[in-house]
Amino acid sequence: MRFSFIEHKALHTCYCFVFLFLLSFSSSEAYDALDPNGNITIKWDVISWTADGYVAVVTINNFQQYRHISAPGWSLTWAWAGKEVIWNIKGAMTTEQGNCSRLFKGISLPHSCQKNPTLVDLLPNTPYNQKLPNCCKGGVLTSWTQDPTNSVASFQLTVGHSGTTNRTVQVPKNFTFHAPGSGYTCGPAKIVRPTMFISPDKRRVTQAIMTWNVTCTYSHFLAQKSTPTCCVSLSTFYNDTTVPCPTCSCACKHSNSTCVKTDTGKNPSVECSNHMCPISVHWHLNLNKKNYWRVNVTISNLNYRMNYSDWNMVIQHPNFINNLAQVFGLKYKLFTPLDDIHVAMVWGIKFYNNVLIEASNVEFEVLFRKDNNSSLSSLKKDWGFPQGIYFNGDRCVMPPPHAYPWLPNYA
Ligand SMILES: *[C@@H]1O[C@H](CO)[C@@H](O)[C@H](O)[C@H]1NC(C)=O
Ligand SMILES: *[C@@H]1O[C@H](CO)[C@@H](O)[C@H](O)[C@H]1NC(C)=O
Ligand SMILES: *[C@@H]1O[C@H](CO)[C@@H](O)[C@H](O)[C@H]1NC(C)=O
Ligand SMILES: *[C@@H]1O[C@H](CO)[C@@H](O)[C@H](O)[C@H]1NC(C)=O
Ligand SMILES: *[C@@H]1O[C@H](CO)[C@@H](O)[C@H](O)[C@H]1NC(C)=O
Ligand SMILES: *[C@@H]1O[C@H](CO)[C@@H](O)[C@H](O)[C@H]1NC(C)=O
Ligand SMILES: *[C@@H]1O[C@H](CO)[C@@H](O)[C@H](O)[C@H]1NC(C)=O
Ligand SMILES: *[C@@H]1O[C@H](CO)[C@@H](O)[C@H](O)[C@H]1NC(C)=O
Ligand SMILES: *[C@@H]1O[C@H](CO)[C@@H](O)[C@H](O)[C@H]1NC(C)=O
Ligand SMILES: *[C@@H]1O[C@H](CO)[C@@H](O)[C@H](O)[C@H]1NC(C)=O
Ligand SMILES: *[C@@H]1O[C@H](CO)[C@@H](O)[C@H](O)[C@H]1NC(C)=O
Repeated sequence: MRFSFIEHKALHTCYCFVFLFLLSFSSSEAYDALDPNGNITIKWDVISWTADGYVAVVTINNFQQYRHISAPGWSLTWAWAGKEVIWNIKGAMTTEQGNCSRLFKGISLPHSCQKNPTLVDLLPNTPYNQKLPNCCKGGVLTSWTQDPTNSVASFQLTVGHSGTTNRTVQVPKNFTFHAPGSGYTCGPAKIVRPTMFISPDKRRVTQAIMTWNVTCTYSHFLAQKSTPTCCVSLSTFYNDTTVPCPTCSCACKHSNSTCVKTDTGKNPSVECSNHMCPISVHWHLNLNKKNYWRVNVTISNLNYRMNYSDWNMVIQHPNFINNLAQVFGLKYKLFTPLDDIHVAMVWGIKFYNNVLIEASNVEFEVLFRKDNNSSLSSLKKDWGFPQGIYFNGDRCVMPPPHAYPWLPNYA
């Protein structure tokens, strides 16, 4: 008895341990401290019933502060709960029609008979009569902060062979939201309060017959980005040393490495460097002006074959909230996602520098207001430097703190 009790207890402890491990694992992987509420919400509004199903308007909202969906865009897959087919779609299409011969002989075929349809957005050159508001952007969604109006996609589905009342209709299951780099997981569809639609002149309100929401969240862990894509170098006015991007930040340059000295028009396409990153960020703490610290930041695209459209950068710096005076040359917004995290998000100005063109730079300046304590003598070694930099949501590799440029009177 005694042995079995001990065994049992040991087993119990063991489960506990596994459970705690899973808990800490899942919470750290799915949680983004810079954007704790960020998500992509997929909303289905049933707007009418038909003889054999319903018409639904599906809206995809990118509610992530700084993560966008870049080209070649999103795709969305789900599993029908029953034998549903898609008669017709506006504003998107399925990638395959599937086998419709079982159900339909001779009459006009449905758009898709697949059990697990995959939908993609239409391209911008879609004829006007097949467009819907918010469709046809080639699957590209901006981050919510950068451009809320372009962070939305929508399409309209005519679904058949389904229930035709709110008691018989079955919500689709197993949603998967794919984006370049992937990394999203979606929860189950939840029936929510029907959406209210307000007419453009705000004089009439209509409502959906039935609405369900699906929430998808991003995780770095799932994205399986095996290597970083970005690194940071530092310099200051008070020390001639430039602290370079850490060697091998993104890859190592080998004798048979896959980098180029100039554009060869073929793959590979990343410029040869000690860090081998397609994006590098240089942070220069500039002259000590009377009332301000000035920082010049240069973002370099070292990829000869890639334009980063609607790029953004998130800078984590303890002085943003109290001391940031202005950012010149870009748009910016300050956040305090958590009490002890202060970040500024910067992004390009449309038609000016919102596209980081292949093998080129974007430069901008950040101005920090001085308080009475940030004289040079009271500057801490790392005062002028960011704690973290993220390019398009991916963390850039920073030099180790012990390598930061020394102050003249340091140590
Ligand atoms: C999704 O994000 C929006 C905007 O931040 C937020 O209001 C909503 O609560 C989030 N949904 C979930 C399920 O977290
Ligand atoms: C949804 O996925 C689960 C697990 O992958 C699977 O067991 C289930 O059969 C799927 N449901 C449908 C309707 O495909
Ligand atoms: C399509 O479905 C029919 C009926 O179930 C079947 O006979 C036929 O082999 C299927 N065709 C293909 C290409 O799978
Ligand atoms: C279905 O519709 C009826 C009548 O409009 C309504 O009372 C009921 O709450 C609806 N049920 C659901 C699940 O939406
Ligand atoms: C469903 O999603 C929409 C955004 O598409 C949101 O406004 C609404 O609050 C969500 N409903 C619930 C209950 O989360
Ligand atoms: C260099 O190329 C050789 C042959 O193609 C390969 O065996 C070796 O692993 C490569 N070295 C590195 C560091 O990639
Ligand atoms: C910093 O930026 C300003 C304005 O763009 C420019 O005049 C100055 O030369 C830059 N300084 C350095 C060190 O790059
Ligand atoms: C990047 O943009 C430039 C200027 O608009 C264009 O000439 C070039 O073809 C683009 N490159 C790619 C890979 O799209
Ligand atoms: C700095 O000190 C001066 C005088 O000592 C004072 O008037 C001013 O308000 C102080 N500024 C800040 C930001 O504390
Ligand atoms: C300046 O330093 C003093 C003493 O170290 C501190 O009490 C004060 O809050 C600081 N002021 C600012 C604006 O940080
Ligand atoms: C500048 O900083 C480097 C460390 O990055 C240090 O080795 C060097 O001595 C410093 N130079 C001066 C003049 O303080």
